[in-house]
Amino acid sequence: MKVMVIGSGAREHALVWKLNASPQVDSIITVPGNGGTSSLSANVAAPLTDLAGLAAIAHSHDVDFTIVGPDNPLADGVVDLFQEQGLPVFGPSQEAARIEWSKSFAGKLMEDNSIPHPARRVFDQYANARDYVNKHSGPIVVKADGLALGKGVFVCSDQEEALGALDQCMVARTFGTAGDRVVLEEYLEGQEVSVFAFSDGANISPLIAASDHKRIRDGDKGPNTGGMGSYAVPEFWKKKLEQEVGDTLVAPTINALAELGTPVKGMLYAGLIVTPSGPRVLEFNARFGDPEAQVILPLLETDLLDAVVACADGNLGRMDVCWRKGSCVGVVLASPGYPGDYATGYEIDGLGDLDEDVLAFHAGTMLESRPTGDVLVTSGGRVMTIVAQGSSLEEAIRK
Ligand code: GLY
Repeated sequence: MKVMVIGSGAREHALVWKLNASPQVDSIITVPGNGGTSSLSANVAAPLTDLAGLAAIAHSHDVDFTIVGPDNPLADGVVDLFQEQGLPVFGPSQEAARIEWSKSFAGKLMEDNSIPHPARRVFDQYANARDYVNKHSGPIVVKADGLALGKGVFVCSDQEEALGALDQCMVARTFGTAGDRVVLEEYLEGQEVSVFAFSDGANISPLIAASDHKRIRDGDKGPNTGGMGSYAVPEFWKKKLEQEVGDTLVAPTINALAELGTPVKGMLYAGLIVTPSGPRVLEFNARFGDPEAQVILPLLETDLLDAVVACADGNLGRMDVCWRKGSCVGVVLASPGYPGDYATGYEIDGLGDLDEDVLAFHAGTMLESRPTGDVLVTSGGRVMTIVAQGSSLEEAIRK
């Protein structure tokens, strides 16, 4: 099969790497890809906002199957368009992806289906949200309702911070329309974990869990980023917790979406907090996480193409998806200044010195043509994720 991967990050490089290991995959194209995907696939430049253009690329390259990486094309309806044009694709429809692109919708779905989550209130009027914050003491979480490039969630320790976050969303409109509605959420203490399940809309695969770390500095300090690293599987992710999360959070969500007529055929990604009273859903996404994909895909024993085709075809119930035992750790290398201003165009070397079993999944890299040949340079703030596996977390970290 000829497979197309949509996206340009380290998550998409990891998808391409895993597909490349499938005996069923003849060739891969990545749109637009990066300096790393170009070694395993053909990069095709195109804006991800041009859905018709993406479908045209799939037709003109005779693509047999497409995997969508990022959230925005899913929210824009890329899967619906591909399906209308008879192009097989892995990912949720626009309406199924609502679980990710509207936090108020996700909250209502959880309320209606008794899926444990923090208490929350939804506000469309700034004055009402402000009044609510002014009457609330202690920490509170402010969330822009829509997609905000991973930057729309504010964990606020007091009223002043919460009012600042509200201003950013509803007055300064930093996130545009995504922040015109906000969700104010109860702050919970516990261990955060990202949980993933393949789904064909009715069945789910066994779950896999990973932790991601969002703050820039060691010791969970400094500004939030798109994720500085991840590891699988967290030490506290035990069989009993997995069972509880599957039975009370993931399966009921898949069933509720199917009952609404919008089944998720793709990856359901639940962002959870495990509190002393049990696991609660902080948010849902409808895709692979980044940087979590970089550490869970190396642990996927099943052929990725088999799994994604089974999800799209509604055949997941007929196959076993298996996750390997062992651990996997990924650390994101970033440019100085990230997540603020940073320079690009730095030459990258040293990748040839990595041990054979250490993986480098590129994100902000590109090949620059120079008279002496192509040179790999940085083109973004998040440059790559370096990934190592081991029989234990300690071994993976040491590698
Ligand atoms: N790990 C965060 C995300 O993918 O949204």
